[in-house]
Order: sequence, then C-alpha cells, then structure tokens
Amino acid sequence: MSERDNILSIHKLFCDFMTAEGIVYALSSVNLDIRRGTIHGLVGESGCGKSVTGRAIMALHERRHTRLSGDVRFDGRNLLTLPERELRRIRGQRISMIFQNPGASLSPLMPVGKQIAEAITNHIALPKPELQSRVNTLLEQVGLHSSVARQYPFELSGGMQQRVMIAQAIACKPELLIADEPTTALDVTVQAQVLNLLKDLRTQLSLSVLLITHNFAVVAEVCDRVSVMYAGQIVETADAATLINAAAHPYSIALINCIPRSHGDGDFDTERAPLPVIAGSPPRLYKPPRGCPFAPRCKHADTLCETAPPMLDIDHDHKVRCHHAR
Ligand SMILES: Nc1ncnc2c1ncn2[C@@H]1O[C@H](COP(=O)(O)OP(=O)(O)OP(=O)(O)O)[C@@H](O)[C@H]1O
Ligand SMILES: [Mg+2]
Repeated sequence: MSERDNILSIHKLFCDFMTAEGIVYALSSVNLDIRRGTIHGLVGESGCGKSVTGRAIMALHERRHTRLSGDVRFDGRNLLTLPERELRRIRGQRISMIFQNPGASLSPLMPVGKQIAEAITNHIALPKPELQSRVNTLLEQVGLHSSVARQYPFELSGGMQQRVMIAQAIACKPELLIADEPTTALDVTVQAQVLNLLKDLRTQLSLSVLLITHNFAVVAEVCDRVSVMYAGQIVETADAATLINAAAHPYSIALINCIPRSHGDGDFDTERAPLPVIAGSPPRLYKPPRGCPFAPRCKHADTLCETAPPMLDIDHDHKVRCHHAR
C-alpha cells in the first residue's frame, strides 16, 4: 500500500481546546488513512472525537482557542499548514462535508436549486443555462426530480433535504466527502436510502467518503474500511468484514455486540441505536491519556495497561491499539 493509494493520510493529529474549565485533549495522536474510492467508517461513542476529526480535516476550527498539530496530507500537502486562501479553494471543491441536520444548514429563504447553484458558483463561473442544467443533473444524481429546484426547504421531507445537501456537497465533483452522521436525523427507511445513495455516488463519481457514525449497523452495511475511536484515539482499523467478524480490541468487540439486527432485506433496524451498553463511561478529556484510556472499563486490563499501548499490526491491514489484542 503506497501513499498514492490514500486520498487522505492523517498522521499524529492532536487537537486541544482551551476552555474556561481547562484544556480539553480532544484528539491524541490520531492516525488514519482513507483509501481512494472507499467508504471509510469512523465509529465510536458520543464525545470520542469523531466530529473534531472531521472538522480538523477541513481546518474548520476556530483558531484562537484551538491547538491543532499533526499532518493531514491531501495531494502531497499538509492541510493544517496551508494558508486560508488555499484552504478555501480545497473546501467545498475538492473536499466537502455534509452534516447531521440538513434543516439547520439550508437557508429557509431560498429555493434549493439556487442554493445548489451557489455551491457551484462559489468556486466556478458558469453561464446561466449551463448552471441550470448542472443543477438539474445534480438533482437527478441524488434521486430528485429537477422540478424540486424551485421548492423551498420547508416544502421537502428530511430525506429530500439531506439529498439536496448531498447535491450541494458533490456540486464541484469533490474527491473526498466527509459525511458527519448524515442519516441520524432521518427515519429508518430513509436512512437506508440515503446510505445507498452514498454507495452509488462512491461508484459513479469515484468518490472517497469518510462516514462518521456512532452506529455499527451503518458501518456493517456501507463501509469498506472502518476505524474505531475511543477517547480521542483510533483504537482499531481494519476492513469492515474483518472488524465485524474478527474485531481484536475489547472496545470494538463490545460495540459490535450491540449491533442491532438487520431485517435481511437491506433495511437497517437503527431504531434501537444509540449504541452501546458498555459498563462505565468514557474518560473525561481534561487530562492527556496515560496508559490505555479504555483500561478502567476493560475486563482484560492489568498492570501492562498502565503504559499506553502502541498501534500494532496484528494482521494484514489490521491495526489494533491494545496490549491484549487477540
Ligand atoms: N469547540 C470545542 N471546545 C471545547 N471542547 C470541544 C469543542 N468541540 C468539541 N469539544 C470536545 O471534544 C470532544 C470530542 O467531541 P466531538 O464533537 O468530536 O465528539 P463526537 O465523537 O463527534 O460525538 P457525537 O457522537 O456526540 O457527535 C468532546 O469531549 C467535546 O466536548
Ligand atoms: Mg459528532
């Protein structure tokens, strides 16, 4: 596996927030490679650092109270050290992001076609007829009729709004899409449709996707590779089938034991999420982790776990951060 096979390589990413209550050590040495043309799941409990990782890739943090360091390599350059002017050229055009709640991200005052058009004209100047036909094509690509262009967000269902958000995100044919809990606000059937749309777009547009979710059922259905995150660290990375059938980190195993059953017809029974039911709670992030952060909740923990485990290759393409990985 060479560097060129990765659309994005994150190496030793740290993110600290200076708050009135003290420093929050949100990310501690995150390493993550996203391979070209794959859907890479990032999964873990609430507060483990998934969204912070997504925003760090886009360098979207408010800089004054944030200490961000490490290497986020995209097309040979570290995004963390690029000037804002160059980042603006990459954001929305080569890397784009969709969020959990489309209602909050779309303007209520503008027809959605115009909002999709703006996503294009922010980066590329196009004559009006071409712009219009591009908007129509985008709407069709996300499974909406072109007449939807004239409608306002409040006239659309949550699933249709999320499709409009996806149309905006793919408007400039990005290479990488970061999707932060894109289906959590939708009902179960619509979740499945939107996830299937992401899968189709990955193939049609040779898109690479970082899919952030707290839900392992989603991972099982759509992801090629998966990283499990705990307390600001990646604790395991493998291809999705390996992770689901042969997870090696005690935390991943506990998460997988909480996967809701699939109906077997492609629908996800995600109503029983959020996951998981693991005894204890994640550590507060006001201290940098010493030793294994999962140790207080882990039945295998012993004195070895007082020292931080390194990320170990336990098999081909399967990395685990645990002294007792099997
Ligand atoms: N701007 C900020 N200032 C201070 N702390 C922050 C800030 N943003 C995030 N955090 C903290 O960083 C940690 C990671 O947050 P993050 O939003 O990445 O979690 P998450 O894994 O996305 O959770 P969820 O599944 O609930 O979305 C949390 O402890 C959160 O409180
Ligand atoms: Mg989040």
